[in-house]
Amino acid sequence: MTVLAVANQKGGVGKTTTVVGLAAALSEMGKRVLAVDLDPQMALTAWLFGEDHKGRATVYEALFWPEKLREATLTSAEGFEVAVSSLDLAGAEVELLAFADRHQRLHRALAKVPGRDWVLVDCPPSLGLLTLNALLAADFVLVPVSCEYLALRGLALLFATIRRVQDGLNPGLRLLGVLPNLYEARTLHAQEVLDALEKRFKEVLLPPVRKSVRFREAPVARKSILAYDPDGEGAEALRRIAKEVVRRGEKGGA
Ligand SMILES: Nc1ncnc2c1ncn2[C@@H]1O[C@H](COP(=O)(O)OP(=O)(O)OP(=O)(O)O)[C@@H](O)[C@H]1O
Ligand SMILES: [Mg+2]
Repeated sequence: MTVLAVANQKGGVGKTTTVVGLAAALSEMGKRVLAVDLDPQMALTAWLFGEDHKGRATVYEALFWPEKLREATLTSAEGFEVAVSSLDLAGAEVELLAFADRHQRLHRALAKVPGRDWVLVDCPPSLGLLTLNALLAADFVLVPVSCEYLALRGLALLFATIRRVQDGLNPGLRLLGVLPNLYEARTLHAQEVLDALEKRFKEVLLPPVRKSVRFREAPVARKSILAYDPDGEGAEALRRIAKEVVRRGEKGGA
């Protein structure tokens, strides 16, 4: 079982979009996939299930009682599983302070759901305790960035956090890739940002995903981009990225 945390403390860069797209593309490849919604905003949960999950156990309970993760897990229409989130998660960062192993609660919960090939963790837009739980549970981290200059400014802090985790509680954590998202091929600005990313991240940079209104439409239809627009450029990009994720994941990453 390979655990991939999709993280960036900047909001709106495409973490949730990447998790749903990769979950669909990996399951299309025959992989058993569990996506974990670790964001109290519940974007991933609402995208795939609307309000249908109400009244169930959620990832919040699973952080306190690891065996609850199984109950928090639903199967999506597209075949991959989702551990659903709830608004309560917003309080977990404080409530978990009572636990000595507060950084390792997700790791413990994931141990209760063996048998998946890939676990994809959708992190909230912060570097708080929830994201730390994801980085401590993960074998790999994937960082989506939006192709705007200002979006690159927060990356130093994110990579310092990743290094701190590698030097401390999870020395096995590896950077799987940096994913340039919301790429507008026709603007000089986006090209300049992509050039800067290529210089800085070299072989860990993944192929860019273009900005397309299809990505905004897919959640309205409660579908991944692969189910919503199967032959579109976005679906193709996600399939290519999923293949590369599997290749890097199996070879051991960068
Ligand atoms: N390639 C793309 N083209 C167009 N729109 C996109 C693309 N990727 C993501 N979006 C849209 O951008 C918005 C933000 O994406 P998403 O929710 O995946 O980001 P996020 O990093 O998970 O945000 P948050 O930090 O709030 O959790 C959404 O409306 C999504 O549909
Ligand atoms: Mg999100």
